[in-house]
Amino acid sequence: METILVTGGAGFIGSNFIKHILQEHPDSYIVNLDLLTYAGNLENLKEIENNENYTFIKGDIRDRELVDNIFSEFRIKKVVHFAAESHVDRSIEDPEIFLSTNILGTQVLLDAAKKHWKINPDDKYCDEYIDNVKYLQVSTDEVYGALGKEGKFSEDLPLLPNSPYSASKASADLIVRAYHKTFGLPINITRCSNNYGPYQFPEKLIPLMIINCIKDKELPVYGDGMQIRDWLHVKDHCSAIETVLYKGRIGEIYNIGGNNEKANIEIVQLIISTLGKSNNLIKYVKDRPGHDRRYAIDNTKITTELGWKPSYTFEQGMKETIEWYLNNTEWINNIISNDYMKYYEKMYSGI
Ligand SMILES: NC(=O)c1ccc[n+]([C@@H]2O[C@H](COP(=O)([O-])OP(=O)(O)OC[C@H]3O[C@@H](n4cnc5c(N)ncnc54)[C@H](O)[C@@H]3O)[C@@H](O)[C@H]2O)c1
Repeated sequence: METILVTGGAGFIGSNFIKHILQEHPDSYIVNLDLLTYAGNLENLKEIENNENYTFIKGDIRDRELVDNIFSEFRIKKVVHFAAESHVDRSIEDPEIFLSTNILGTQVLLDAAKKHWKINPDDKYCDEYIDNVKYLQVSTDEVYGALGKEGKFSEDLPLLPNSPYSASKASADLIVRAYHKTFGLPINITRCSNNYGPYQFPEKLIPLMIINCIKDKELPVYGDGMQIRDWLHVKDHCSAIETVLYKGRIGEIYNIGGNNEKANIEIVQLIISTLGKSNNLIKYVKDRPGHDRRYAIDNTKITTELGWKPSYTFEQGMKETIEWYLNNTEWINNIISNDYMKYYEKMYSGI
């Protein structure tokens, strides 16, 4: 049985990924290392918490001793690294934790992988070298910066991040690349566009707007609302990461996108009309500093080389997502009662 260390598995994408792998690869064992910051929520994993192929460990990826012990005890063969501070607005308010978690936390995991997988640049294939191991870094299209009206992000573009969040993710990507080039660590990096779907913490656009709209609260839209993102259903993201984990060529970067370019205001209007509410709920607020105007992903490499493609249309994915939030009021109410939501009272007149 192969053991996979998933970091940040109590967050939005990580929790969806763990459920996906336990279903698709019942011969795998998953260790979920998560600090349970404001964004981590064990309720996301309720349906698999007693699965015999799953262990949760509350802890910090920056804790070297803990990470080292996990590698020894569970004989980790693969790492899928989701854990991060992930919200751009918070990185503008306080960049420090982003640099610490996203950059130095990544280095701790890389060092443990290098040590336990007996990676040696001069003798990669020595008897002790562990085969079939891989470190997968989950990154973001935001590392490429912003696009104009035309063009898409391909994997060979320079990294030009604009926010402290995206700069921390770009830094981590470069360190991962360096551990591959210098030490021969078998790695992949995936860079995906904006995700949406069940279990997303309601600080991000889609859950924030759905929940506010359900509760007839104002819908705070940054600037003119014409910022364009390329939306990806979280389940499509999980199947893409699975594909790269098992089939990706070592050392390669793969972009993952859903071919769904939408302006923020279009999404807000779709949510309003699906829920039968009024456009009067929309409140334009001061734009985010350094707000990137447009992202779009060229996913030719992963589709042609690895045969992955997204399965959700945006319309279907949004319909299911809105229904999920309508049907999971307990999950929502538990989060909203959390102190961290006070942050939003300060940011917007939101939830
Ligand atoms: N959500 C998106 O649209 C999106 C898009 C592109 C890339 N990504 C990347 O995907 C990954 C997952 O994103 P998400 O939206 O699920 O994030 P999230 O904020 O929902 O979850 C992050 C998880 O990491 C955990 N965590 C934070 N610091 C930790 C630490 N020091 N040690 C251990 N655990 C820690 C949190 O408790 C939480 O469970 C991130 O690396 C993010 O940069 C996300």
